[in-house]
This record gives sequence, structure tokens and C-alpha cells, in this order.
Amino acid sequence: MNNSKGLLLIIAVLLIACESDEYTSSPSPLDRDLTQLLESRSQDEGLSFFVLPNETDYASIPQDPLNPITREKVILGQLLVHETATGGNSKMPNTRHTYACATCHPSASGFSAGIRQGIGEGGIGFGFAGEGRLAMDESTMPRDSIDVQPIKPPTLLNVAYQEVALWNGALGAQGINAPYVQQNATIVPENLFGFQGLETQGIAGQKAHRLKIDAEFVEEFGYKSYFDAAFPSTPIDERYGPVNAALAIAAFNRTILTNQAPWQEWLRGNTNALSEDQKKGAMVFFDKGKCFECHTGPALKSNEFHAWGFLDFIPAETIIFSGRRKSFNIPTQRGRGEFTGREQDNYKFKVPTLYNLKMNKFYGHGGSITSIRAVVEYKNAGVKQNADVPDAQIASQFGTLNLTDEEITNLVDFLENGLYDPNVARYAPDSVLSGNCIPNNDPQSRIDLGCD
Ligand code: HEC
Ligand code: HEC
Repeated sequence: MNNSKGLLLIIAVLLIACESDEYTSSPSPLDRDLTQLLESRSQDEGLSFFVLPNETDYASIPQDPLNPITREKVILGQLLVHETATGGNSKMPNTRHTYACATCHPSASGFSAGIRQGIGEGGIGFGFAGEGRLAMDESTMPRDSIDVQPIKPPTLLNVAYQEVALWNGALGAQGINAPYVQQNATIVPENLFGFQGLETQGIAGQKAHRLKIDAEFVEEFGYKSYFDAAFPSTPIDERYGPVNAALAIAAFNRTILTNQAPWQEWLRGNTNALSEDQKKGAMVFFDKGKCFECHTGPALKSNEFHAWGFLDFIPAETIIFSGRRKSFNIPTQRGRGEFTGREQDNYKFKVPTLYNLKMNKFYGHGGSITSIRAVVEYKNAGVKQNADVPDAQIASQFGTLNLTDEEITNLVDFLENGLYDPNVARYAPDSVLSGNCIPNNDPQSRIDLGCD
């Protein structure tokens, strides 16, 4: 080998080495500042305080001690959430087997509805990402028979990081809800099972959304062996019922984690995963913007409830507003206070996760804001939308942040792109055992989804 060839070889080897190891890039001063800031916000745990586990690392995912996550439950739960043959308790005969949980929580819109108000039974169409779903014609589907709720469907992304479920936290018997289970026993009887929020939602949700998962269903659509594998020790006469279905659904929901977001890669050591502007945005999030005071931990949420004065559904802007004000038997308008009965909890709603927000264009519990920048500007400006909310209830951070235009721009870039896992479609199955179209199976959705 002559000298010049040898030199080329060395250069080539060096180039390959640099390219193949993305983690060798050395941290910039900004990376070091951000790391230091995060350590101070991490309750002494360091960066790992913010890291989401891999979705197959079950031991590291928060779970209900009464429902340990297993592979068999997750496989079954993933199918059930998307299986439109679960829609067996429809009010109308012609809508039977056309909807599922994923109808209001489709992967295509980041497991939120893609429209302001999710429509289960009584909706038709899907569009590209759930945004094309409309209420069925009134002559075939009376308005009051449609499955809708008076509040925006929250995403299923990162739901493992909450002990209680719903905007007002009404579902779940453990932790912060334990003192209120008996007082609400007649309106939320599902809490008497004693499970956490997601397991309880699985039970209550099957009833509320007219699903039929029982011995007949498992026989007809081939799910028997899946229940046998997931729940081998449940007596046969209880094995194929709604409680086990709920446990499988909750186990699966806990694995829907946005661990491929650039922010997560940065936390794992890839300093190139975020742009300089996004890192500046993260600095704002964890410092001057005070966002971390509520949106924290791996999912950037918390088990707390706060008021920001967002509007509830506006009748004129909502596809269906039947005057119904209850979700799972509890009025939604006064938020957490409707469940606890405590005045200081009025108008307070759960702290949502902030990942993959751009997949779904409606923000706040009433979907009253339609861009991420507008949410940040709203929190910064401090002019409440809903005049009914007393100022004394509203979060102390409201209108006190003094963020500059540039800070807002960087913060929004961090939220929109740094917190975006581009691959959440991995959580939807390719098909379900019935062979039905998923996540919807009505005639228009079948066309939209390419099932016909
Ligand atoms: C008609 C649309 C619709 C259908 C169908 C539906 N959901 Fe929801 N889901 C919602 C709405 C709306 C909420 C919020 C209700 C509230 O907060 O009062 C919600 C809340 C949730 C939550 C709580 C999330 C959180 O952050 O607290 C979970 C979990 C959930 N749904 C899972 C499911 C499962 C599992 C099914 C099937 C058994 C299902 N959903 C079917 C609309 C729907
Ligand atoms: C005092 C606690 C608190 C602080 C501080 C806070 N948030 Fe929130 N955030 C919430 C709560 C609670 C909601 C839901 C309120 C509702 O829907 O009524 C929310 C909603 C949001 C939403 C809408 C998400 C959705 O899915 O609808 C975004 C975006 C958001 N916050 C971003 C931020 C940013 C950025 C900051 C910092 C500038 C911040 N928040 C500071 C508690 C907080």
C-alpha cells in the first residue's frame, strides 16, 4: 500500500467512525447550561428524572400494583383498543361493529381525536387523521343517541404517568382519589373496584362507549386464546369479561410512550437531537417560563389540577352540543371541584402531557385554542377566556411570565418539534382479529382508510 492510499484509508475510517457514533459530539456551553438547569429541577435525580422508558421495559413503566404489565396483556389490549368488532352494544343496529376506543383516540392524530369533540357511535368518516369525522344525519341517528362527551378527548400518549384519569380526575380509587371514593360511590361506582385511573377508565369506558367484550365476543372474533394467555389464573366464568378486558387495555395504554422524541434523545446523550433554538426553548420551559412547575417528569405532566381560565366547549364551534354537561355521570364544567366537592378545586383541570401536540389542533380541555403558539401567548398574556372562573382560582403563573417574542418562538419550537415522537404509529396494530377496518368501520371511514 503506498502512502497516499494509506492516508485515504485512515481518513475514510475516521469519517465512518464520526458518522456512526452520533453521541461523540461534544456538548456545547448551551448543552451544559441546560443540563445544569435540569439537574436543579430534577428533585435530585439528575437527567433520568425526565427520561421515558422503552415501551417494552415494563418494569420501568408506572403501573397499578393490582394490574402488573405483562406482554400478553399488552398484546391483547392493543388489539381491543383498535378492534371495531368491540362496538357491539350500539344503540342503532346499522352502526354495530363500526367503532372502537381508537375511534376517539386514533394513532393518526396522536391518540387524541383529531377533532374538537370525539364521536364514537353515530359518527361517520375519518379523513386523513380523524379530522374528517362528522355526526351522522339526524334522520338516521337522533342527536341524543350519539356517543359524545362534553369535553375534549385527552391523548393516550404517556397516560401511565397519572394515577387518576379524566380532566377532573374522577376515575381511579388510589392515591389522591382515595378520600373521595365512598362519597362518589353512586355516580362513579367503577371506583369501588379499587384500581388506578386507567384500569377504572377501561371498565367505565366500555359501558360509556357501548362496547361489548364478553364470552360471546371472544368466541365469535377469535380472542379466547388471547384472554387465556393474559389471564390464566382467572376462573373461566369470569375470564372473558369486561374487567379483564379493562386490565389488558390499561396495560397496553401504559406502554404508549413518546420515547423517540428528540428531547428524549437529547436526555439520553445525543446533543445533536435538538437545534440550538430548541435548546433555548427548553431553557425557557425549565426556567423563566415556569412551565416545569406543573409540566414535569418524563411525560411533562403531573398529578395536579390547575385553572387557566380556558373556555369549555363553545356550542357554536362544537360539532354536537346536546346540552349534556356530564362525562361519566359527573358534570365537567367546574373541573376537579365537581369530583371532590371542594370549592378550592373548582375550575381546575388535570395537567396534560405536552408531547406530539401538533398532531391534534385543539388545546385546553374545551379545545378553545387552536395553535401551540396561541396557548403560550395566552399563558403569557394573562387575559382569561372564561369569565366564570374567579381570579383567585387561577394559576399564579398566569400573565406574570414576561416572555419576549423570541423566547416564545424558541419555546414553541421546543414544544412542537423537540417534543414530537415521529413514530407513534408503531402503537397501532396492522390489523385486528375480526379483519374489520380500524380504527373505524363505518362505510365512509372504510373509504377514507382505504379498507374497501
Ligand atoms: C366518544 C369518544 C370516545 C371514545 C369512543 C372513547 N373515549 Fe376515551 N375519552 C374521551 C373523552 C372525551 C375523554 C375525556 C373525558 C373527561 O375527562 O371527562 C376521554 C378520556 C380517556 C382517558 C383518560 C385520559 C386522561 O388523560 O385522563 C383514557 C385513558 C381513555 N379515554 C381511554 C379510552 C378507552 C380505553 C376507550 C375504549 C374503552 C375510550 N377511551 C373510548 C372520548 C372517547
Ligand atoms: C400551574 C400549572 C401550570 C403551569 C405553570 C403551566 N401549565 Fe400548561 N397546563 C396546565 C393545565 C392544568 C393545563 C390544562 C388546563 C385546561 O385545559 O383547562 C395546561 C395546558 C397546557 C397546554 C395545552 C395542552 C393540551 O393538550 O390541551 C399547553 C400547550 C401548555 N399547557 C403549555 C404550557 C407551557 C409552555 C407552560 C410554560 C409557559 C405551561 N404550560 C405552564 C398547567 C400548567
